[in-house]
Amino acid sequence: MNIPQLVETKAMPSLKVIALPATLLYLFFVTIIVLTNSGLVEEDIRQVIRITAASSMFLFSLTFATSSLLHFFCNEYWQSLMQARRRIGLSFALSHTVHLLAIILLVEIAYGGDYLQLGDIAGGSVIYLFIFAMAVTSNDASVKLLGAKNWKRLHKTGSYLIWIGLFGSYLENALETHALHYWLCFIFGTSLILLRVGAFWDKRISA
Ligand code: HEM
Repeated sequence: MNIPQLVETKAMPSLKVIALPATLLYLFFVTIIVLTNSGLVEEDIRQVIRITAASSMFLFSLTFATSSLLHFFCNEYWQSLMQARRRIGLSFALSHTVHLLAIILLVEIAYGGDYLQLGDIAGGSVIYLFIFAMAVTSNDASVKLLGAKNWKRLHKTGSYLIWIGLFGSYLENALETHALHYWLCFIFGTSLILLRVGAFWDKRISA
């Protein structure tokens, strides 16, 4: 299936413009509402961690699936999403930075600053390095500086690591708690991979 050239759509500029401020506003209000509920208590901070994980999943999934969705259903909505993809990726980074700030707050409030209480944080820390590297290179100047091939390598590797971080956590929680919503999140994550594999093979077959 051939994908026609991206066309500027009416929906595109507004999506591009509102993605970051909308995320910022959402994160600000969620954090304020949850944390002023009963003061800075552990359960409320954990609530912010869970809410930001969910908003990160939503934003990340949009960026991760857009090109495949555009490949299969080439219409102006997916085109506008494709054009806004960098901003949505930055919105994901913003959401996950609040996840990190809430984790730091949790350690300070609940564990007296002892980060070892969190268990093994090596994997999560590496993923955060990728998230920040991807955020600061989400511009044309960085594509030029790194070269398109290296830039793509960084963003592709980072995307799959983020997928593992997000949906691996949901799988872990699903196995531990047997809660339906964790299983649904993991199944959703798996469907994103299937979508990308499907688009990859379809492109190869029709090349
Ligand atoms: C060093 C880095 C990280 C630490 C210390 C950390 C810590 C935590 C903690 C303590 C929770 C549990 C909150 C609770 O339910 O009480 C949590 C949940 C979660 N984290 Fe992180 N995290 C880190 C990085 C990441 C990264 C990089 C991702 C994904 C890219 C991620 C995705 C999630 C998800 C999906 C949940 C589950 C939310 C839920 O239960 O609904 N985390 N994290």
